Amino acid sequence: MFISASAAETEAAGTRLAEKIQGGDVLALVGDLGAGKTQFVKGLAKGLGSKDVVTSPTFTLLHEYQGDRLPIYHFDFYRIESLAALRAIGFDELVFAGGVTVIEWADRFAEAIPSPARWIKFEIVSGDQRRIDLSTFV
Ligand SMILES: Nc1ncnc2c1ncn2[C@@H]1O[C@H](COP(=O)(O)OP(=O)(O)OP(=O)(O)O)[C@@H](O)[C@H]1O
Ligand SMILES: [Mg+2]
Repeated sequence: MFISASAAETEAAGTRLAEKIQGGDVLALVGDLGAGKTQFVKGLAKGLGSKDVVTSPTFTLLHEYQGDRLPIYHFDFYRIESLAALRAIGFDELVFAGGVTVIEWADRFAEAIPSPARWIKFEIVSGDQRRIDLSTFV
């Protein structure tokens, strides 16, 4: 658990975490709007060697980035309306495809998340402070 004092710090935390990521890992991110989930994914993708632009897949539901060793599948469950819709975009196949899957608003369909997933919690403390719980990685 640590307090990030800026968007850049949250991004750097994602970049550092990339060192611990292996193919098949599933990262389930939870936290309110603006809590820093996408910011964290930007850093993570960079740390995995991707030069792709990372934006919230709120409207397209899924973004794919190419890291230097692994593909990254970036989901956002916020706009997904049902488990059926999630299945329709191929979530179950991609999650087991050997890349890195990272999911914003994972708690909206927690039942779809495979059990070895690592849950990461983001909380807005105040202003630019965000509490980030990475305890599933220690
Ligand atoms: N410590 C911090 N960490 C992350 N973002 C911060 C921090 N301080 C301020 N911010 C700002 O908060 C916003 C976080 O946005 P971000 O898109 O990462 O949130 P999110 O959790 O993905 O939200 P959403 O649920 O809408 O997808 C950005 O505008 C960022 O600049
Ligand atoms: Mg987001």
